[in-house]
Amino acid sequence: MRQKLIVGNWKMHGSRASVNALIADIRQGIAIVKTTQVAVCPPVIFLGDVEALLKGTPIAWGAQNLCDQPSGAYTGEISADMLREFGCRYVIVGHSERRALYGEGDVLVARKYALAVKSGLIPIFCVGELLAEREAGQTEAVVARQLDAVLNHSGVTALQQGVVAYEPVWAIGTGKTATPEQAQQVHAFIRERVARHDATIGAGLQILYGGSVKAANAAELFRMPDIDGGLIGGASLNAVEFLAICQAAG
Ligand code: PGA
Repeated sequence: MRQKLIVGNWKMHGSRASVNALIADIRQGIAIVKTTQVAVCPPVIFLGDVEALLKGTPIAWGAQNLCDQPSGAYTGEISADMLREFGCRYVIVGHSERRALYGEGDVLVARKYALAVKSGLIPIFCVGELLAEREAGQTEAVVARQLDAVLNHSGVTALQQGVVAYEPVWAIGTGKTATPEQAQQVHAFIRERVARHDATIGAGLQILYGGSVKAANAAELFRMPDIDGGLIGGASLNAVEFLAICQAAG
């Protein structure tokens, strides 16, 4: 039985003060969340604060990005080992904002995925199609290409140590959620594609949905058989809303 996982992606929001306040509020309410794994991914500069506040709680934390190189002259980059040193359990890899705004392609994403796994981080590997691609009937082809980049680079066993997040780009930050049926269809496709390489790994893979998840639509999404939780952007910046989403997954 796959456990549900809810991850907050705070993107580049907040200040030191607001991040501390948000963590305090989530900590205070987390007791009501029983069976769901919960994690937050703050801006990397706040990881020290977040580690101090969340150590010893059931809430895990992670980063939103990492460098594809282990160390060296890469000005401005953060390595997987540095993230580990700050207690990160997760790291988001291949988010569509990084693909679209910072030119991250499938090969770079696959290298980041491999390095995350090698360092003992759990990559949350984002895939998803643009609106034009969906309208052209290319959703599965796009998701397959993104998935295969990691499968070809690292092999299926690397998928055992990661989480996949299906995030249709047209649903991110737009208020337009995929219907539970639309999401389920792609989740089942992803699972089947991994299962073709290894049935056990496919069956055990946590596949999160992301894209305008909120408390009001979370339960119907999480009820679908292949949706194992969510990657939550905007709604994760509000503790009450985020905790309600966590509860909906339980
Ligand atoms: P959203 O973002 O929930 O604000 O749509 C999701 C994401 O980008 O991970």
